[in-house]
Amino acid sequence: MTLPESSLPATDLGGYLHRAERVLAAALPPADTDPARLHEAMRYACRGGKRLRALLTYCAGAVLGVDLNKLDAPACALELIHAYSLVHDDLPAMDDDDLRRGQPTTHVAYDEATAILVGDALQTLAFRVLAEPQTHTSPAAQLQMLRLLADAAGSLGMVGGQAVDIESEHLKIPLARLESLHARKTGALIRCGLELAAAAGEADAEQTRALSEFGRLLGLAYQIQDDVLDESSSTAVLGKTQGKDRAQEKSTYPALLGFDAAKALASETFARARGALDGFGARAAPLLALAATIEQRDH
Ligand code: IPE
Ligand code: IPE
Ligand code: MG
Ligand code: MG
Ligand code: MG
Repeated sequence: MTLPESSLPATDLGGYLHRAERVLAAALPPADTDPARLHEAMRYACRGGKRLRALLTYCAGAVLGVDLNKLDAPACALELIHAYSLVHDDLPAMDDDDLRRGQPTTHVAYDEATAILVGDALQTLAFRVLAEPQTHTSPAAQLQMLRLLADAAGSLGMVGGQAVDIESEHLKIPLARLESLHARKTGALIRCGLELAAAAGEADAEQTRALSEFGRLLGLAYQIQDDVLDESSSTAVLGKTQGKDRAQEKSTYPALLGFDAAKALASETFARARGALDGFGARAAPLLALAATIEQRDH
């Protein structure tokens, strides 16, 4: 890895967040576009997330020195896929949740058919955003980003993880199976945020491998932490229903290992994730700052 230490990247989490919100708002069709109820619901479903996945793409891009304009489309596309995954995750046939991001879930605020269609439309919009001609100057890099997002979102990634999550309800699955479940349902999109930045920056194989490994471990830590918060936080703070996992007998880390061991494993996994960035030296600062913010999150 040969990156100059002379001009270290700035860590501007607030600026990246603002940018992610602006790009997302611009990508979504105006709420009054026909069919207006669908477009209003798409905007509703995208309101209020932490935008962690977009921030990962911007911060990884900062580590690599990538032009911000090349990061907007992948960051936005990833948040669109994530928002769709949450709308479908909350449906009665899935986790049957009525609260998301502090507001009624999309199928409650609108109706179930609209929520299904919102998810479908957000997913296709994500690929449309990434396929825009101005996304990148290199068609090869752009195609690679499209492949990465498709793999992370599909049956070998997030959707596959969701399938295993549902089939693992009421079961005590082995730890390795639980890790694989979490790596797919949540880890795949988080890791994808790092890999998209590497593709946008046309990073070398060693940089790409290090960012991908950071993403793998961070994604795992993130879902263990989600399981822990589901047990220990409150509905008001979480903005989603606390205690849902126990109520639905989900396969989670606290259920399998116990609460304290799950919490300790989350910290240990965050530490291992940070270690994956060692090769970047001081240039890793933006990603380390974001990881610290994530580790301290309460929702
Ligand atoms: C929630 O994701 C679902 C999981 C994969 C754990 P986030 O905690 O990133 O949710 P938002 O986007 O900030 O609402
Ligand atoms: C959701 O996992 C993962 C995806 C949406 C792909 P959870 O079901 O644990 O997420 P929350 O707790 O409802 O946010
Ligand atoms: Mg779920
Ligand atoms: Mg859920
Ligand atoms: Mg959860």
